[in-house]
Amino acid sequence: MSSTARAATAASVSPSTSAPAVNRPAGERVFNFSAGPGCMPEEVLRQIQEEVWNCRNSGVGILEHSHRAAVYDRILAEAFEDCREVGSIPRNYHVLFLTGGSTQQNFMVPMNFLPADKSGTADYLNTGYWAARSIEDAHIFGTIHQASSSKDAGYTFIPSAAETKYSAKPAYVHYTSNNTLYGTQFHYTPQPPAGVPLVCDMCSDIFSRPFDVTKYGLVYASAQKNLGPAGATMVIASDELVRRGRTDIAHMLQYRTFADSESRPNTPPVFPIYAMGLMFKWIRKQGGVKHFEKFNAEKAGIVYNVLDSSKFYKGHARADSRSLMNLTFRCPTPKLDDLFCTEAATNGLDCLKGHRATGGMRVSLYNAMPMAGARALAQFMVEFERKNG
Ligand SMILES: Cc1ncc(COP(=O)(O)O)c(C=O)c1O
Repeated sequence: MSSTARAATAASVSPSTSAPAVNRPAGERVFNFSAGPGCMPEEVLRQIQEEVWNCRNSGVGILEHSHRAAVYDRILAEAFEDCREVGSIPRNYHVLFLTGGSTQQNFMVPMNFLPADKSGTADYLNTGYWAARSIEDAHIFGTIHQASSSKDAGYTFIPSAAETKYSAKPAYVHYTSNNTLYGTQFHYTPQPPAGVPLVCDMCSDIFSRPFDVTKYGLVYASAQKNLGPAGATMVIASDELVRRGRTDIAHMLQYRTFADSESRPNTPPVFPIYAMGLMFKWIRKQGGVKHFEKFNAEKAGIVYNVLDSSKFYKGHARADSRSLMNLTFRCPTPKLDDLFCTEAATNGLDCLKGHRATGGMRVSLYNAMPMAGARALAQFMVEFERKNG
């Protein structure tokens, strides 16, 4: 995609992801189906409210704490340990907290792991908008081989392992586990050629289900979907891969800089990292990623059941590739899509407007979305179809 085309896309999708604002009394909240920043659990938000004023009885709020203060030392140490526990991350892997979002990883990955003379090749699985953005940046650093693509089919499905053809000796294989825009998700782990590191953009489904980190060289995710507020990006990477990265690029663009400085080579995003730490504790308290695997499948099932038994709604994704995090569908006309979003918002179901690339609606059911949210939406969908079908 050219930068002009991307700018045009960005301009055309940026105005709003929700229906026109509905004024609500102070204290009243709605079910927030936003694709990100997304909903957060009530108990985490309430703890944050308290600790903005006084964090851990220090008399200083979390927004005001130095990243070198003893309070932050403990917050950071716990965030690392709790993340390791939640993700079953072994000691030969680093947990790193960076900035720049997953979008920055689009260039950090190829910049670090493709040779400086641009003679290398990396393999990419092109399954959606974010995968395509990753490919676009990777081109700057070497040759990119698209091992699979569902672009010609409007990114409606995830190509199977048999449909994926790797190049002879790629520096790494990159894929995006969940396609936030189009609502598709990998339900298997790609297997790169022997010895080739697997890199994954897990931005929109990290910790929504278990994954075996030892199958990966590097995984990254921005915080604002399953891990808290925007502003921090988590990278999990094997020490072996981190050490393999180039040393002739700016220090802040090398993974080892973060690995060797407890992710604070400069002033880090203290608040988002603190909030991520609370999210790891919350995930663990709920029963960990195994709990969320079941919980998220049940939530998505409630909404997919309505879609599957409807002649009114049309889902975007092929059934075998459907995402449990971002569910995409349309009404019979764009006018009805707009009405759906407006009436849903009036009923306390907000931020359902789909991305312009897909149109229609997008329902984001991240970990923090309660079962009641999925049930309320399903009930609304049935009623809306009855009235307008
Ligand atoms: C799968 C995926 N990758 C990358 C990104 C980009 O993340 P950020 O905006 O934090 O750079 C997003 C954002 O929605 C995403 O869903």
